[in-house]
Amino acid sequence: MSDPRSASTRLGILLSTVRYEERRLLSELDRRGIPVARLDPRTMSFGPGDTEELKGMTVLNREISSQRAALAGESLEAFGARTVNDAAAIRVCGNKWSTYLRLRQDGVPTPTTLLAPTPEAGRAAVAALGYPAVIKPLSASWGNRVSLITDQYAAEAVLEHCAALPSAVARTVIVQEAVRPGSPDIRGIVVDGVCVGAITRSSSDWRNNVARGATVEQHAPDEEVHRLCVRAAAAVGATIAGVDLVERADGSHTVLEVNSRVEFQGFERATGVDVAARIVAAWTAEMIEVEEPV
Ligand SMILES: Nc1ncnc2c1ncn2[C@@H]1O[C@H](COP(=O)(O)OP(=O)(O)O)[C@@H](O)[C@H]1O
Ligand SMILES: [Mg+2]
Repeated sequence: MSDPRSASTRLGILLSTVRYEERRLLSELDRRGIPVARLDPRTMSFGPGDTEELKGMTVLNREISSQRAALAGESLEAFGARTVNDAAAIRVCGNKWSTYLRLRQDGVPTPTTLLAPTPEAGRAAVAALGYPAVIKPLSASWGNRVSLITDQYAAEAVLEHCAALPSAVARTVIVQEAVRPGSPDIRGIVVDGVCVGAITRSSSDWRNNVARGATVEQHAPDEEVHRLCVRAAAAVGATIAGVDLVERADGSHTVLEVNSRVEFQGFERATGVDVAARIVAAWTAEMIEVEEPV
C-alpha cells in the first residue's frame, strides 16, 4: 500500500451533503493527516480542463442522490479515477430489481420478488404471491414508497398511484413476498469483505428504517448473519455495504437489499464499532500510486 500522506497519492470524496457520516469520515482523515479533495457532483460537468486532477485519484462515493452517485461514479472512472464503491456496485444497489437478480444469481437467500412494469403485471404479481405482499419502487431509500399490501383494495390503490407517476422508471415497481412484516429487521455493515457488526432495528412503523424513527440495538453475534452480509456485499460487488435482512419464522435469514453509501450513525452508537475508521482504512488501501515526473 502506498503512503496516503505522500503527494503522489490523492484521495477524493464525492458528496453534496455533509451528514454525520461524512463528518466522521473527514475527521478520521484529518486525525491521520491525510488530505482529501471534496468533489460535488452537483457542479461537475467533466469538461475539458476539469478532469486532469481526477486521474489517479481514489474517490469515496458518498453522494446522497443515487442518480447523481451513479452518473458521477461512472464519469470519474472514465477520467481515470478509482472509485469506492465502484460505479457498477452503485448502480446495482441503486436498483432493487438489479440487486434481487444479483443476490439470486449468487444463491444469497432473498424473498421471492417479481418485476411489475405495469399495473396489470403488478396485479398478477400480488395475486401470485398472496397477502400480505410488499410493493417497492426500483430506486428509493429510507422506506419511501415501500408499501405493505394487505388486501386487493390496497394493491389496486398503490398500483394506480404508481401508474400515474411521470416517468417509466418511477412507474415500474417490484412486488415482494412479505417476511414477518412488523417484526424487527437487521442491518449489517460490511467493509472490505468483513462484516464489522450488525444491529437490530425496531419501529412502530412496519418499515424499520432509522430515518423513520426506528430504534436500534446491537444484534447478538451471529455467524449466519455475518456470513450472509459478506455474501450479499460480494454479490453486488460492493466493498462497503449496509445489508438489510429479515428473519423468517424458521430462524433463517433473508436479504432485502444492499446499500452502497451506508448511513452508520445509529450503528456506531449501538455497537461502538468505529465504522468511519474501517471505511477510511479500506479507502486508503485502494489508493493509486502515481508515478512522480522525473
Ligand atoms: N419483504 C419484506 N418483508 C418484511 N419487511 C420488509 C420487506 N421489505 C421491506 N421491509 C421493511 O421495510 C424496510 C424498508 O425496505 P427496504 O427494502 O430496505 O427499502 P429502503 O431502501 O427504502 O430502505 C425494511 O428495512 C424492512 O423493515
Ligand atoms: Mg433499507
